[in-house]
Amino acid sequence: MIKAGVIGHPVAHSKSPVIHGHWFNAYRIEGEYQAIDIAPDQLKSGIQKLIDEGYAGFNVTVPHKINVMKLCDTLDDDAQAIGAVNTVVVRDGKLHGYNTDAFGFIENLKNALADFDINQTAVLLGAGGAARAIVHALLKEGAPRILICNRSYDKAEELARMDTARIDILEWENRSSMEECGLLINSTSLGMKGQPPLNINLVTLPSEAVVYDIVYAPLMTDFLRQGQLHGHPIVTGIGMLLHQARPAFKAWTGVMPKVDRTLMDKVLT
Ligand code: ATR
Repeated sequence: MIKAGVIGHPVAHSKSPVIHGHWFNAYRIEGEYQAIDIAPDQLKSGIQKLIDEGYAGFNVTVPHKINVMKLCDTLDDDAQAIGAVNTVVVRDGKLHGYNTDAFGFIENLKNALADFDINQTAVLLGAGGAARAIVHALLKEGAPRILICNRSYDKAEELARMDTARIDILEWENRSSMEECGLLINSTSLGMKGQPPLNINLVTLPSEAVVYDIVYAPLMTDFLRQGQLHGHPIVTGIGMLLHQARPAFKAWTGVMPKVDRTLMDKVLT
């Protein structure tokens, strides 16, 4: 019996048990995947308990993604570059930290639009934790130019340090000036259920530019609707969540699972 889970605080809202539970069933692998609430001051002892109970690994969500790094014996290149861990694999009592968010972001884009060309300017709205993984993914994929556009300028500046040669800043007030953009991504929380809408005008966006929202609740945000209305190819956010889970499932079972329609429907209900 393979034991895995997701740690967070709070963690009850996490979709990961549905995703991994679906794959355990689909691939007929005997396993269980739990949502495990660990308070920030209990992180070390909480993880030790999982090791003692024979966990093969666990995913990591808010607020532990940065603090868990200190407890890992090794970190993969993606986790180091992003500065956060979302997957920990336990091997011989040692903790190996990974970050699969960049993989999830790019896989979702490639699966949605097979002929997408990375060789153009990407504009990224937001500069939080998710944005860091997206910038890393775009850089790794070979994006020639990234413009970061964030409400707080200092956070955009900090993120731009990931590659000063390829990243520039677009002021938040100028977010409707999209003449150069080939890929426009929303990584802010704007447009999410219970949050204010993302206020942006897409009239200057070139017609073939892709509009990608990582928000998936609701699936069709106003931002995506506006993109669709102007005839842009759109990419919804649910795929990023599903694809980032694949390497983690592979780490604990040896099977690289597929994302299918049934899983998507399960997660969206
Ligand atoms: P995540 O881990 O999902 O990326 P986060 O790190 O809290 O979440 O980042 C949230 C992002 O949404 C940030 O870029 C934030 O902008 P600031 O850096 O200025 O805080 C952005 N955001 C949240 N609410 C916003 C709002 N009302 N207007 C503009 N941007 C907002």
